Amino acid sequence: MMRASDDAMCIGQRWSPLAANSPLREDAIQVWLIDLDDGESLPRSERGPWSEAERQHAARQHDRIARRRWLVGRSAVRDVLAGYLHCSPRSVAVEKGPNGRPRLAPANAPAQLDFNVAHSEHVLLCAVTRCGRVGVDVERIRPLDDLRALLDIVPTSSERVSSSQSNDRNLLLGFFRAWTAHEALAKAIGVGLELPFDAVHSARVGNTTFATVRGDVRGRRWSLVELDPVQGFVGALATAQANVPIELRRWKGVAP
Ligand SMILES: CC(C)(COP(=O)(O)OP(=O)(O)OC[C@H]1O[C@@H](n2cnc3c(N)ncnc32)[C@H](O)[C@@H]1OP(=O)(O)O)[C@@H](O)C(=O)NCCC(=O)NCCS
Repeated sequence: MMRASDDAMCIGQRWSPLAANSPLREDAIQVWLIDLDDGESLPRSERGPWSEAERQHAARQHDRIARRRWLVGRSAVRDVLAGYLHCSPRSVAVEKGPNGRPRLAPANAPAQLDFNVAHSEHVLLCAVTRCGRVGVDVERIRPLDDLRALLDIVPTSSERVSSSQSNDRNLLLGFFRAWTAHEALAKAIGVGLELPFDAVHSARVGNTTFATVRGDVRGRRWSLVELDPVQGFVGALATAQANVPIELRRWKGVAP
């Protein structure tokens, strides 16, 4: 188990393979890594756990791979949430809150769970907690034609890359670290990409960035923690809880 303030956060992160329904401590965050291309993740029954809206969304995906990944992701997230709610994956009721931020519907609300999902290609992260709001993001590290321009727009990324390290690989890594941290923060707050970069004041300590957001009447101090889910991808987690234990899990459920 790691803590948000732990410097070792991005070094040799271990994602323990576990089935859903492991207990969630009141003061902890669990982050689930789901491989959307894992054959074991294919739902067994044709009916699956999906809602009609989810089926329709899948049907609108542009190709077979995207469709399959979307269905696998939805069934896996349902399985993970059902483990905490002690119900069937099909019974998990999710609705959209302000700005489209997914949340548990009132029927599941007594569980007081907050969760957030991010996906990039075949990698899906789902963060779950009972202690406040959580946000998560994941991106594949990939070449960007406009990297230099983006480095000017994403302020903290330049701080992460010293001049001696400024080859393209490190610049890209610095950019995606900063980008995922910003997006995880925006998703924890719930505003999505509408959060301006200049509204965030941040300071980096080890592998954690501490941030406050201009205009936040609650004056929250966010911890932005680096995640390393899979080779070639970076992620980030945002939480307003200080020194919260973070448990990294690789979903090994068999999709319902
Ligand atoms: C949320 C947002 C940052 C997603 O960015 P992205 O890089 O495309 O995708 P990610 O993989 O990081 O996250 C997608 C997930 O974020 C979640 N999400 C959606 N809106 C969210 C919000 N406002 N806050 C937090 N999480 C949100 C969903 O679970 C979504 O998964 P799904 O597409 O499978 O339903 C972006 O869509 C956004 O800024 N949305 C809010 C503003 C907006 O456009 N609202 C439209 C209202 S109609």
